[in-house]
Amino acid sequence: MLKRYAAERLSSVIPDLSVEAIEAALEVPPNPAFGDWAFPAFPLAKTRRKAPPIIAREIAEALAAGVSGLRAEAVGGFVNLRLDRAAILPDLLRALSAPEHKAPKVGAGERVIIDMSSPNIAKPFGVGHLRSTVIGRALANLYARLGYTPVRVNHIGDWGTQFGKQIAAYKRWGEAIDRDGGAEAGKDRIRFYLSLYVRFHEEAERDPSLEAEGRRWFQKLEAGDPEARRLWQMFVEDSLREFERMYRRLGVEFDRVIGESFYNDRMPAVIDELREKGLLEESEGAMVVRLDDEGLPPCLILKSDGTTLYATRDLATAIYRHDEMGGDWLVYVVGQEQTLHFKQVFSVLKKMGRTWADRCVHVPFGLLRFAGKKLSTRKGHVIFLEDVIDEAVAKAREIIEEKNPALENKDEVAEAVGIGAIVFGDLKNGRLGDVNFSLEEALNFDGETGPYVQYTHARARTVLARAAEDADPAALAAAKARLESGGPLPPSATAALITDAAWAVLGVLDRYPAELRAALERYEPSVVARYALELAKAFNRFYHAERILVPDVDERAAKLVLVERAADVLQDALGLLGIAAPERI
Ligand code: ARG
Repeated sequence: MLKRYAAERLSSVIPDLSVEAIEAALEVPPNPAFGDWAFPAFPLAKTRRKAPPIIAREIAEALAAGVSGLRAEAVGGFVNLRLDRAAILPDLLRALSAPEHKAPKVGAGERVIIDMSSPNIAKPFGVGHLRSTVIGRALANLYARLGYTPVRVNHIGDWGTQFGKQIAAYKRWGEAIDRDGGAEAGKDRIRFYLSLYVRFHEEAERDPSLEAEGRRWFQKLEAGDPEARRLWQMFVEDSLREFERMYRRLGVEFDRVIGESFYNDRMPAVIDELREKGLLEESEGAMVVRLDDEGLPPCLILKSDGTTLYATRDLATAIYRHDEMGGDWLVYVVGQEQTLHFKQVFSVLKKMGRTWADRCVHVPFGLLRFAGKKLSTRKGHVIFLEDVIDEAVAKAREIIEEKNPALENKDEVAEAVGIGAIVFGDLKNGRLGDVNFSLEEALNFDGETGPYVQYTHARARTVLARAAEDADPAALAAAKARLESGGPLPPSATAALITDAAWAVLGVLDRYPAELRAALERYEPSVVARYALELAKAFNRFYHAERILVPDVDERAAKLVLVERAADVLQDALGLLGIAAPERI
């Protein structure tokens, strides 16, 4: 609201621009000593037929003569602006405690189907799917907060030629191992399937007949062969059990979990429709939809052996999500290596006459690298997410033991901090860049990390807990209520909140609703994560600069309101990112 307030004041002396245009033009000066914002006069030079420095001077003079609340100084072609902090403070405090501050309304209840996580069965839940899971969850939280109805869908990869290979490998080597005593259940079951898959690819290099065997098994699977179905079912159940364990630890929930196989009996209708609309063409024995006019390679619909493809299943899936799940928007949180795939699928939908294809959005993201390694499932170079989580939690436990040996629920806090470090370490990066993840770095309590934000939040809560033991709680409560009423403030309260350190915190708090809007507009949870870091830093500077529990009740109440708002917003931002905020660390 502060920026808006400044723009409104300015607009009374710049009648030729709208308040919105002025607000958009305001810049944050590189040095805070120049003021809160700078208004560049350059764009007005043409219409006013004057040099920018002259215009800047005129604006500054007009403000000084007739407008309160904003002090101005012309410097070159800019008008540097400084808020009258004391004048705006009561309105600001009221705005910060209004419910809309944490929930600015943007949507009108539209349903947004979010495809997120979507791991493949018989494969370990890798760190790659972690990104889709945590970015997807954060976006779903933002959608819900801003007035949409998100539907979180886990589109399990349980269909495709690789399952033919998986069955072939199991028949060749796995069955015997299971018969002679069996691989263990649970986590080791997936490692077992992975080892068979790796062996398949190793041996297929020497013996090409294996590939044909894999293809045959997939054909059998698509044709409903009982043995193929039984083995496939076993892979599905064993895998879902492991995924479930991971989701529980990450605190991730889904509204629907639907495997790709669900769409098997919906694909023929799609293929018929493509044929009827004259979109299907033969190409080297396969059936494709040409997308030359879109500048894209053809989209493969049926292989020469008649089996379907990933794209075929995604067409059926999108139609289901729109027609039967009532999705107004279809959002796909999937790695950027699949960008072409989604362009093709959305283009085919458009050619089929589905105008809602314009409301299909692929939200891509870059790779997650551990110590610079790129991982390949085929060669067995995977990092099991569960191992990463276990290591993070163990390290967090050590740090907590050292920092706060008296803490009561250390295990619970270590789980929250260890997992928070991983999730924040992912989400603080713009989603498109590759992430070089280092656990050491992600767990640094003094770095730009989840634990740093969590620790700052716990610090603020600790201050509030101490304040709750106040000698005169009624007087303190009355003083706080007065601060949020929007009426005039006692001088000692005003003085406490307009210091540079306090004002910096209030200024960051003021931006929260705008940051939430920007994060969703750009599908970028990192906006929220970076904001949380900025708020934590501003709060820590205030915390170190000021004594909070001072004798004067109005000053104490004012500082506590600031601490409480900061704690609430830090907790809220972490919550949107899917990260817990323990009261004590
Ligand atoms: N299971 C796929 C993979 O791991 C991701 C699926 C994404 N969603 C979709 N509708 N295609 O690559």
